[in-house]
Amino acid sequence: MRIGILTGGGDCPGLNAAIRAIVRRSIDAHGHEVYGIRDGWRGLVEGDVYRLESSDMAGLIREGGTILGTSRTNPYKDEEQLKSVKENIKRFEFDAIIAIGGDDTLSVATKLSEDGIACVGVPKTIDNDLSATDATFGFDTALTIAVDAIDRLTTTARSHHRTIVVEVMGRHAGWIALHAGIAGSAHCIMLPEFKMSISEVVAIINKRKEAGKKFHIIVVSEGAAIEGDESAVTQDDSLDEFGHVRLGGIGEYVGKEIAKQTGDEIRTVVLGHTQRGGSPTAYDRMLATRFGLAAADYVNDGDFGKMAALRGNEIVPVPLSDATSELKLVPAELYNLAKTFFG
Ligand code: F6P
Repeated sequence: MRIGILTGGGDCPGLNAAIRAIVRRSIDAHGHEVYGIRDGWRGLVEGDVYRLESSDMAGLIREGGTILGTSRTNPYKDEEQLKSVKENIKRFEFDAIIAIGGDDTLSVATKLSEDGIACVGVPKTIDNDLSATDATFGFDTALTIAVDAIDRLTTTARSHHRTIVVEVMGRHAGWIALHAGIAGSAHCIMLPEFKMSISEVVAIINKRKEAGKKFHIIVVSEGAAIEGDESAVTQDDSLDEFGHVRLGGIGEYVGKEIAKQTGDEIRTVVLGHTQRGGSPTAYDRMLATRFGLAAADYVNDGDFGKMAALRGNEIVPVPLSDATSELKLVPAELYNLAKTFFG
């Protein structure tokens, strides 16, 4: 078999570990040929592919980013691009495509599958918002980085008797904010899923002040829903090929509004892409490896249209369409538990 693999969407730690597992399993165990497709679906639009060997995978498990490169190219937005993708799959005689990605990348794989192309998916995203899998790799590393940052910000906030607002990633789903906020012992967590007003945040800060507390850590997801202000805080008006705006800046907004209501000196820290960079945690290396091995086996078995998913402790094949039909959001029960620690 000739297998093409690509990584699409925002990068995350663990992508190289998944590539390594797919390549080693497909070549060493199954005897197939594997080709790297550069920069996500763009590589199939432009025919930008190259042969991968097992020996290229040395040391990759610990490397951040993706050796294949990535992009947010969406061939279903443009008929010509889609035609090129299909022609190139034929031209390179690919028997299967393994797409490693989040909801956008895998939604393309889902549509290609429906169009009769043999695709298998591997779930990744720091946002942890893919349905049909209990976890995606990248999330644990992002979370570890965010908690480390909150720990550090806590000591400086305590020394200066300050309020620090920490903005973390998470467009529609607040998994990073929720977990980092709980694990980092934040005093308030603002999520996309549940609206909160600035007055409520200020009430939490005031209650802490009454109890003699002089520093306050507020964790804000970049897509947090603010009561009384429906517009998302964005970097600019542009949309990517999947129709997403570029979020960022809500931390600054929240900080300024808190300052207006309290008169306090506020500091805001945006963790941004730091959360996506660098080496994966051991957990993400393992999860990415298990997903990669499973995806290589699905291809070898001809089990197409599937994504490797974590269910409990097992890796199981699930229909690609299940993974992309809706986002996995933070449920109310979990948010209510987190509120135990507000204040
Ligand atoms: O999808 C992962 C993610 O990191 C989101 O949390 C964030 O909103 C987005 O990507 C940032 O995208 P970009 O890399 O295009 O700035």
